[in-house]
Amino acid sequence: MSGMLQRAWGRVFAAVYDRMMADAEREGLGALRAELLAGARGRVLELGAGTGVNLAHYPPGLEALLLAEPEAPMARRLRPRAAASGLPAEVLVAPAAALPVPDGSVDAVVCTLVLCTVPDVAAALGEVRRVLAPGGRLLFLEHVRHPDPRRARRQDLWNPIQRRVAHGCNVNRPTGELIAAAGFALHDVRQEPFRRAPSVVQPLLRGSATP
Ligand SMILES: C[S@@+](CC[C@H](N)C(=O)[O-])C[C@H]1O[C@@H](n2cnc3c(N)ncnc32)[C@H](O)[C@@H]1O
Repeated sequence: MSGMLQRAWGRVFAAVYDRMMADAEREGLGALRAELLAGARGRVLELGAGTGVNLAHYPPGLEALLLAEPEAPMARRLRPRAAASGLPAEVLVAPAAALPVPDGSVDAVVCTLVLCTVPDVAAALGEVRRVLAPGGRLLFLEHVRHPDPRRARRQDLWNPIQRRVAHGCNVNRPTGELIAAAGFALHDVRQEPFRRAPSVVQPLLRGSATP
């Protein structure tokens, strides 16, 4: 896809994102977001915050909420929502692999449906490690490569199409394994069905990780 076409598709993707996800949010994804984010405390950094769907699910009392989002069409939707959320939120236009955030400065990093899309997961996780304060953790909720090899093979076949229609999203990433390979310890990991999502975008993995 040419750069111009990709940018145009990025604008469409941002415009339809909330509608596209509405059924999934209602039928389980929203509850999983709330459950994950209930553990957020202190200074929180969210990667690839998109249109700001998580804003409704953060607990009260956060010290700061930094919302990093590299795509301008997403950031345009995120800013007014962040401002209206009542949370101490600030939008940073930045990719996960180059965060304008000091070393050891946040208590939690949040990633929901993002590590499927970042071009370099290892670089993003390197940044997560760098910005986390001692005792801090990564909270993640991601759709991942299916543990059944036959279904994973179907995901491999579908992936080139997925990358185009879902603006860079990969359905076949073993994200849990990639987090572990980056030297994080995984905690409370649970596999969940991604209700109302296509069978090729299954399952979800949620949990936390410490460097
Ligand atoms: C499927 S959307 C998920 C949005 C949001 N996190 C959510 O849970 O609804 C993927 C998001 O990742 C963002 N993204 C794309 N490339 C990225 C990168 N290199 N670093 C961080 N985020 C990125 C996209 O702009 C988009 O907002």
